[in-house]
Amino acid sequence: MDFWKTCADFYDGPILEMSCGTGRILLPLSQLGYDITGVDISNPMLAELKQKILNCPHDVRCKIHLIQGNMVDKILSGNYNLIIFAVSTFLALKNDDERLACLKSCNQVLSDNGVIILSNSKFETNIIRPTALEEANPEKEIIIEYGNDKKN
Ligand SMILES: C[S@@+](CC[C@H](N)C(=O)[O-])C[C@H]1O[C@@H](n2cnc3c(N)ncnc32)[C@H](O)[C@@H]1O
Repeated sequence: MDFWKTCADFYDGPILEMSCGTGRILLPLSQLGYDITGVDISNPMLAELKQKILNCPHDVRCKIHLIQGNMVDKILSGNYNLIIFAVSTFLALKNDDERLACLKSCNQVLSDNGVIILSNSKFETNIIRPTALEEANPEKEIIIEYGNDKKN
């Protein structure tokens, strides 16, 4: 979670989380004050997330938007500074055609200085280098952090 908080602090919102699941990352980021939209294909996962959101204060609930659908399809709207794919969710897409369609869709809703961050690690907290974000070109560069999946 620290990894994504660092990214959000650096790039600011609005944030789009692809494959948000039950909100492991989305909820803490919204509680920190970021506007965040979560996309997920699974109705049961989103239903669980909606239950958690109901328990959040009104000001947090207002910051969360959910979209049910396949991230490969053109289901996005808005303008985001930060688009995130956690825990290998991007690599879980079936093939390069799907990955390309998904990235094109993200690009449509990425702000001029926005970035897409893909993680292929289960434990993002351990892979951020302090200077990694400063080194990245903020002009729609796709940052791929190749991490170490071992929990320290
Ligand atoms: C391992 S969970 C990760 C959830 C969350 N990002 C996290 O880090 O806790 C993977 C999620 O990806 C969703 N998912 C899988 N394929 C998807 C697709 N094509 N479009 C949208 N969501 C998808 C699943 O429904 C599931 O909720």
